[in-house]
Amino acid sequence: MLAKITSCALVGLNGTLVDVEVDVHPGQVGVIDIVGLPDAAIQESRQRVRSAIHNANLSFPQKRITINLAPADLHKEGPAYDLPIAVGILAGGNQLPLDHPGSLFVGELSLDGTVRHVNGIISMASVAREAGIETLYVPEVDAPEAALVPDLTVIPVRSLGQLAMHLNNLLPIEPYDLSANPLVNSEPEYAADFSEVRGQEHVKRALEVAAAGGHCVLMTGPPGAGKTLLARSMPSILPRMTIEEALEVTKIYSVCGMLPPEQPLVRVRPFRSPHHTISQAGLVGGGHWPRPGEVSLAHRGVLFLDEFSEFGMRTLEVLRQPLEDKVVTISRASGALSFPANFMLVAARNPCPCGYHGDSAHECTCSAGMVEGYRKRVSGPLMDRIDIHVEVPRVDYEKLAGNTLGETSAAVRARVEAARERQRARFAGTSLYCNADMGPAQVRQFCELDDAGRGLIKAAMRQLGLSARAYHRVLKLARTIADLAGEEGIQAAHLAEALQYRRRGGE
Ligand SMILES: Nc1ncnc2c1ncn2[C@@H]1O[C@H](COP(=O)(O)OP(=O)(O)OP(=O)(O)O)[C@@H](O)[C@H]1O
Ligand SMILES: [Mg+2]
Repeated sequence: MLAKITSCALVGLNGTLVDVEVDVHPGQVGVIDIVGLPDAAIQESRQRVRSAIHNANLSFPQKRITINLAPADLHKEGPAYDLPIAVGILAGGNQLPLDHPGSLFVGELSLDGTVRHVNGIISMASVAREAGIETLYVPEVDAPEAALVPDLTVIPVRSLGQLAMHLNNLLPIEPYDLSANPLVNSEPEYAADFSEVRGQEHVKRALEVAAAGGHCVLMTGPPGAGKTLLARSMPSILPRMTIEEALEVTKIYSVCGMLPPEQPLVRVRPFRSPHHTISQAGLVGGGHWPRPGEVSLAHRGVLFLDEFSEFGMRTLEVLRQPLEDKVVTISRASGALSFPANFMLVAARNPCPCGYHGDSAHECTCSAGMVEGYRKRVSGPLMDRIDIHVEVPRVDYEKLAGNTLGETSAAVRARVEAARERQRARFAGTSLYCNADMGPAQVRQFCELDDAGRGLIKAAMRQLGLSARAYHRVLKLARTIADLAGEEGIQAAHLAEALQYRRRGGE
């Protein structure tokens, strides 16, 4: 008997439907062949499925079994095919109905028949819906994640035995009800708040501008000035994610197996802070089965590179392409894969090796050559891609010891969200989310300057030696500053502030 069960493979971040064909036919008992480019985990599924069927008190067909995973030219990996294979074997052995039209099965089996978590459920659910599938049979722990994709009936499966009872209409399993999950509607929590940072008002302003338009920032300052503290409170001033953004981010975390089961939807913008010893592949992604790197894990959020000058120069250079294109493309013999990488770069560094160059209270012990060499560890092309360069000086005792708390993150976030609202209206109907996403055509359309502004930027181009890229980036930054001020047109004052952020870096 030939059973055909629908399942799903992951290719990068996206799902592809896979037919699991199981033929139970006369022949040598106990032989199970699996064909269709399976990896080792799928080959081992033979043992798991056999034990799971026995331990679920079902009987394993005493026949020869051939399993084909179609399309045959697609490499398949992971243990997610255990469940469809088991259902196919049971169906081929007349213990379950032969056909399950409109249903998709995924899940790993443990030897006792329990169905275990698999990665990438949300991507699989998305492709299932596009293909017109109505019912999804998934591991119980993954049901909240699958149910985030609307218009699907999600059946949470605890064990193979329970599934067999359900498919034979003996004891139906209740579909998962997403409204029962309070986590989806709860308020996100943040690790740090802006009000805890004393002084540094100009840095906070720069970070607010960066958050409002999605621009890159570099903070330079002596040890203990609050750079790391400021960066860590960034997520709390970033606008809340729209549901589309949240689903994009959730897909990435789901594929990487980094989604906690009790939190099916990533609600807070990601904040990634890799150590400076990270490899190029760790940063942009790679591996035999390409996995997203830190730039993709920071998609729609912040990539914080602390001790920026300590990162390997060649490591940092791989950031140039994603910073410009906002996607990472990894080539493999089997084809190229793209991962989204639209992140905000926030970097922090000391001005020199000893850390005190330009500090008012501490003498710098570095020679001029050492300071120069330290700065050059970050290449010109990379510096050119950073919109906001800001100095973070030491905080005075009075500010630090005073009792006045600064503005809360919630207040800053309200302004940031208002600015983003203007951007959303501006970019309605396009794939752009914020000002930093604009290409040259949109810059021309949305960043028009008045006469005073044109005079200012002409002088600045000459004086600061701005590149064409920097020119566009300054205009985008000025657009954000105008949005924060609630102005339709970019005024000279907005442009002047944008240029100031460039000037600090061009020292
Ligand atoms: N502006 C500030 N307001 C309140 N606390 C601060 C401030 N700056 C520093 N601190 C205190 O000092 C600690 C260290 O600050 P932080 O780690 O942010 O310094 P840094 O600028 O990153 O230094 P380094 O260059 O050595 O990495 C903070 O955890 C906090 O307790
Ligand atoms: Mg630090």
